Amino acid sequence: MRPLPPNVRPLGDFQTADVWQTHVNAIFYGIQGPGIHDHFQTFVSRDHRLAHALADRFFDHAKSAASTGPLHVMEWGVGNGNLAGSFLSRLKALDSGETVYPQLTYSLCDFSDEILKGARLHPKLQEHADRTRFVAMNAETDAPVQQDPVHQIISNEIWDDLATRVVVKLNGEFLEEYLQPCIDPARCPLPFAEFETCFQERRLDELKADPGFLEHIHWERSLRKTEIGDWPEAPAIETHFQKIDDRIPVPVNTGAFQTLRQAFDLLAPGSMGYTGFDYGMLGVPELNQVGRPYFKLYGGQYTNMVNFPLLRDVGERVGFSAITLQPQRDFVASDVNEPVISAVDLVQAHPKIRRMEPWDVDLLMIQTLAALNPFYRSPYKQKLDYPPVAGTPKKQRRRLAEAVEQLSKSGVPDTVAYVTRREVENAAASLKKIGYDAGDLDDAFAASPPPVAFAHIQFRK
Ligand SMILES: C[S@@+](CC[C@H](N)C(=O)[O-])C[C@H]1O[C@@H](n2cnc3c(N)ncnc32)[C@H](O)[C@@H]1O
Repeated sequence: MRPLPPNVRPLGDFQTADVWQTHVNAIFYGIQGPGIHDHFQTFVSRDHRLAHALADRFFDHAKSAASTGPLHVMEWGVGNGNLAGSFLSRLKALDSGETVYPQLTYSLCDFSDEILKGARLHPKLQEHADRTRFVAMNAETDAPVQQDPVHQIISNEIWDDLATRVVVKLNGEFLEEYLQPCIDPARCPLPFAEFETCFQERRLDELKADPGFLEHIHWERSLRKTEIGDWPEAPAIETHFQKIDDRIPVPVNTGAFQTLRQAFDLLAPGSMGYTGFDYGMLGVPELNQVGRPYFKLYGGQYTNMVNFPLLRDVGERVGFSAITLQPQRDFVASDVNEPVISAVDLVQAHPKIRRMEPWDVDLLMIQTLAALNPFYRSPYKQKLDYPPVAGTPKKQRRRLAEAVEQLSKSGVPDTVAYVTRREVENAAASLKKIGYDAGDLDDAFAASPPPVAFAHIQFRK
């Protein structure tokens, strides 16, 4: 085993990756609330298009269902509540006959009280107070015993947070990744021994005062021999690994498997099923790509990529009879009836992007949104916050702040928001002025998904 880097001390023993991952994520979400979005954005944390696509499908389903009566949607892992707010607003707007929206209960479920507290305050949810309820629950371990049938379960970017074991196949044997969290005592908000106890016992109240330590956790890794034959879902896992090459770290998302089992028990027959969005590998070629990432840290949050082929196989074993898997942007595209990309993908297609300083990329991002905005109409008014990256020189800071200030409140709501082919084409002349030519715009729409991509998967009973 390698020696520890100087200065850091262990916060516990080596444990399988799932143990420490769920431990640190319970602390991350437990002490931060909606402040999580200072560390990462998601496709639903400000944008509405994915939520509207879900609402459009739910509305069509509810209208065509033979029986009328109470309807129940659950969302697991709710973040700031924007998905729920956008879903409900869209549903209400569609439902001029008032046959669906008034029947609906939308349960926002999360294991973090801080997150639920923050989501309750989301501006878009205020007009839906009589349709919503907030439920403390761990999606992995304790879905409520439900009396009423559930007509759809939705989650966005929760599976990557849940327990995941990482396995490497080698010469017919299996090795499993073990993790050990370590930290430089100088980065601890409390004396080391006291901090170690609070960390190990997840004392959220003591840790809440200064969450900055999360970013300084250093993870030691080691691989140890394991037998997968006695794991839950072993038959599916063993069959899966017949297709996997040696020496490739492969996530086995055991927490996500648990959510499928819980969802299956809760969902009404003939319902919309469990709809999940997350990022990971959509096929075996992507899984077998050498050097592809399999985990990521965001300000202390520990995520593992989702192994969608294995998740689908487990879904079948759980009993779901119809499972569809597709790139997430295809799901949104089929709702708006034209191709879409995320605004940030457009920026990535700029011919000079690889040679730009980070602050110039930031400015280009904002100029790109400004170019799109005259051709984009958001149904919600919101102001975009865009803090400069660390190290941005003073002059560039000022230019960025001025550019952000001038953005329309009904424009593209986020840097990862989905924009349509037509919106981009309509803005072509303005985009040309900031350096994009027609070929760059085509390339942005034609680019094939990376080995780790965002996906939509639906499990129906
Ligand atoms: C990455 S955030 C995504 C939030 C939101 N769905 C979005 O996409 O913006 C993950 C969310 O799942 C919640 N979460 C993580 N693990 C959970 C668990 N085991 N049970 C319930 N909620 C969980 C977190 O508190 C957080 O709200």
